[in-house]
Amino acid sequence: MTDLSGSHAVTDRPGGGTTVETTVNGASAASAAESERIRGFLDEACPTTPCLAVDLAVVRNRFARLSAELPGARICYAVKANPDPRVVAELVGLGASFDVASPGEIELCLRQGAPARSISYGNTIKKPTDIALAYQRGVRLFATDSTPDLENIAASAPGAGVFCRIAVDNTGSRTPFGRKFGCSPATAVRLLRRARELGLVPYGVSFHIGSQQLSSEAWEHGIAAAAEVLHDPEMPADAVRMVNLGGGLPATYTQPTPELSEYTAVIEDALRRHFGTGRPEVLLEPGRHLVGDAGVLRSEVVLVSEDSAGQGRWVYLDAGRYNGLAETEGEAITYRLRTSRDGDPLGPVVLAGPTCDGDDVLYQHTRYELPSTLRGGDTVDLLSAGAYTASYSSVCFNGFEPLTTWCFDSAETIERA
Ligand SMILES: Cc1ncc(COP(=O)(O)O)c(C=O)c1O
Repeated sequence: MTDLSGSHAVTDRPGGGTTVETTVNGASAASAAESERIRGFLDEACPTTPCLAVDLAVVRNRFARLSAELPGARICYAVKANPDPRVVAELVGLGASFDVASPGEIELCLRQGAPARSISYGNTIKKPTDIALAYQRGVRLFATDSTPDLENIAASAPGAGVFCRIAVDNTGSRTPFGRKFGCSPATAVRLLRRARELGLVPYGVSFHIGSQQLSSEAWEHGIAAAAEVLHDPEMPADAVRMVNLGGGLPATYTQPTPELSEYTAVIEDALRRHFGTGRPEVLLEPGRHLVGDAGVLRSEVVLVSEDSAGQGRWVYLDAGRYNGLAETEGEAITYRLRTSRDGDPLGPVVLAGPTCDGDDVLYQHTRYELPSTLRGGDTVDLLSAGAYTASYSSVCFNGFEPLTTWCFDSAETIERA
């Protein structure tokens, strides 16, 4: 259980014992400074709540760090994490590539100036018309994990490159994929052979070890499975050797995560051990890691009430499950919080959203403590909320508007909302 109390995240360690992290609100000092700059923007701009403020300087910083840690790897931003056009345009300017899930994301990237050849269609579930549209717009790289999808690609995107997604263990991920995607290494070899027969270019293999992956070792298992495919003697001789390491790198929530350098050390080591000098082309599809820490979701307290049924104090925010905080489902993602009354004495709370829906409760099993002075009109900031918030917001559930995004650049102190 994680207890977010005031300026310290208190975390129960596996095997017992409670550690008080020597960090600010569960984050590194650098990440705390980033969220302070976003607070400065929000305090000054005073936008209507709920809203998401994104600092493009943080996106640039994450992209630069990741590029430096994994030199030579092609970074394809997973657009679904935050499809705000200003975020995509910033990444186009940095020379990023893009992982997209639909024609809508392809059009978005093209509108922001992304070259069609920088786009990889990473969704294994697509209609023939979607494939045809992608091909017509110049996309030439597609993920697959099944024969029907492969045959659709061959029919609608002749001569395109295909990589095969294999299923890997998602243990350690806060939001695992279950069994929806991926095939066995043996099936991947068969599909890539079939791709060649169908006139496609067998390009390589991909995996995703689950989003917000807290165990760096997960990549070792994924890379080992990918090597099994690429080294298979049945692989087409002229196949391009590419391994796509997917997403999964973390943002900063309440659970401590390893440093980025720990993840990249495991990745580099696994690539060295499994491929030696014949290292394949390496792709990455980070979403959450590039934009998560760049955003703060500001909400207003609608109501604080004492629960007569004895469940304690309920704090209702104007942001909930349906207008930005979808990833609180199952309490998978536990955001760090900051309130306008920080410093006052704390007490336990249940946190809930504003709609007339019984599932619109954010945290009732994860222990959160907030100032006992908190009342309607105060603000609660959800930190590191730049990923999978605005893009998950419903259009109008209960008449609440979708979450609005404000982008600014703390390096330039220019607002670009
Ligand atoms: C195919 C694919 N690649 C990359 C990502 C991004 O993952 P993350 O945000 O964990 O980096 C996702 C997320 O769902 C995905 O489905």
